[in-house]
Amino acid sequence: MKLKIAVLAGDGIGPEVIDQAVKVSDAIAKKFNHEITWRPALTGAAAIDAVGEPYPDETHEICASSDAVLFGAIGHPRFDNDPSAKVRPEQGLLKMRKKLGLFANVRPTFTFPSLLDKSPLKRERIEGTDLVFLRELTGGIYFGEKGRRDEGETAFDNCVYTRAEVQRLAVKGFELAMTRSKKLCCVDKANVLETSRLWRETVQAMEKDYPEVTVSYEFVDAVAMRLVQWPNSYDVLITENLFGDILTDEASVISGSMGLMPSASLGSNIGLFEPIHGSYPQATGLNIANPMATILSAAMMFENFGLLEEGKVIRDAVNSALDKGIVTEDLADGGKAYGTIEVGNWITENI
Ligand code: IPM
Ligand code: MN
Repeated sequence: MKLKIAVLAGDGIGPEVIDQAVKVSDAIAKKFNHEITWRPALTGAAAIDAVGEPYPDETHEICASSDAVLFGAIGHPRFDNDPSAKVRPEQGLLKMRKKLGLFANVRPTFTFPSLLDKSPLKRERIEGTDLVFLRELTGGIYFGEKGRRDEGETAFDNCVYTRAEVQRLAVKGFELAMTRSKKLCCVDKANVLETSRLWRETVQAMEKDYPEVTVSYEFVDAVAMRLVQWPNSYDVLITENLFGDILTDEASVISGSMGLMPSASLGSNIGLFEPIHGSYPQATGLNIANPMATILSAAMMFENFGLLEEGKVIRDAVNSALDKGIVTEDLADGGKAYGTIEVGNWITENI
């Protein structure tokens, strides 16, 4: 297969972890006879510094004319501590999601047998956890009207959803549930929020189209609690943008390190693949960041092209690195810690 992949390394540790995922993907391409053309483009603080905006038109053109986007991380402390900053790196990510029509964010949480004791949760609670959040990504409070009034003394962010936006996300949830254990949880706050009532009503009306799927409806606060009590009781969860943002961070530490979980953003025919973690500015340039989440995002990318064997070879190589203790310091636990590059090289060689 001939693939054109836009590669947006972004900020902080982004470039370091992306380099490893590119190396791994090239090894896969060689092994399975694919041809990948990498198309680098600027985003985030790096793009603000270079051209004054976090998702320049030129970057969009590169993404929109590629088959997929491989994304590193975005964000810089220089902007976090300045609430008055007019342009922020994160705006680039939001603009990109919207312009590429990426309304469904797929965020899995699974455990690795060799890491069960590295999780902050007890082994018996997390064993067998294998769940997927489908987070709505281009609507809700992130994209509603926002602003100030009363001379800046009052601020507002509106949360808006249309039935069509809920439906298209829920379709993906039902379809995913059909390929797994046929259990779907709709996470909302329907006891308080009108948008949540629209979510619930819409999903309830769709149940008849998927008679084999058992749907549960749970409030977001209860899910936050049950996620750390019995994560293995969940399978596919669908939710709105902000709830999904928060719950997927919570879920990402279950496996033992935030540096392990990949994600995909889908919607149009161009998918975006990125690690769940952020730009980890303190680690920039130190060769200590865990590249596995980005490498596993590349696995999701191949799988999304229907190249399942390619994805599996990457996952198996990551698993053997974990089994053999070829890990960065977040997982070393007093043992030997390898560098970002060394972990990337080891996985590449094993492919
Ligand atoms: C994420 C991030 C982004 C979000 C930020 C960087 C805008 O936290 O992808 O989860 O809130 O969606
Ligand atoms: Mn987030």
